[in-house]
Amino acid sequence: LFGRPWIFIRGVPSLKFLPPEGPPEVAFAGRSNVGKSSLINALVGHKGLARTSNTPGRTQELNYFVPEGYSGEGGDLPPMALVDMPGYGYAQAPKEHVDAWTKLVFDYLRGRATLKRVYVLIDSRHGVKKNDDEVLDLLDKAAVSYQIVLTKTDKIKPPAVVKLLAETAEKIKKRPAAYPEIIATSSEKSEGLDDLRAAIAQTVGI
Ligand code: GTP
Ligand code: MG
Repeated sequence: LFGRPWIFIRGVPSLKFLPPEGPPEVAFAGRSNVGKSSLINALVGHKGLARTSNTPGRTQELNYFVPEGYSGEGGDLPPMALVDMPGYGYAQAPKEHVDAWTKLVFDYLRGRATLKRVYVLIDSRHGVKKNDDEVLDLLDKAAVSYQIVLTKTDKIKPPAVVKLLAETAEKIKKRPAAYPEIIATSSEKSEGLDDLRAAIAQTVGI
């Protein structure tokens, strides 16, 4: 699944442009700049697939990626899709942008029957912030399964990663839709990627 090339198939600026529900989907959510697009690129081994940037607010649509080689016609559907989401919590963005993204992200997360799991990315330097908690609340309320992924572990020392893993596990312990295991990753140093690939494959049943 992750050994083959992946392609970008669609950017979704508002819900009416969503592809019809089909293959199982796994989405990547998190604050702006947490490393969602970089992690997708690292998972599929293709640096320029999802666009990344130093500037928060890079990804502005729901971007769909699928393994190459499926026409999509006549039942020739890919086995799954990865969905890169716009980040939340970027204070500098114009308010109407923020409102539009928030609505898109929240409506998608709440209403997509083929969404099998949301990977909620948390920057290792920052831990779980207030707006992360709001997203976790929404996922718990909507009973959408999610799993926490720490990103950029190369930016902190290994003992700090261990401590953050324990603290975060404690925070999500009572959350009903949270998968208890947390995955620590670095896209930069290619760490934790096999664990995440295995988790995704298991989630979509491949
Ligand atoms: P938005 O689309 O704006 O929400 O951001 P995003 O979450 O998609 O983040 P993106 O992947 O664009 O990465 C943001 C910045 O973090 C870029 O400068 C990346 O190079 C950097 N970055 C991403 N992952 C890592 C990592 O594992 N380690 C380090 N050191 N930097 C990373
Ligand atoms: Mg992005």
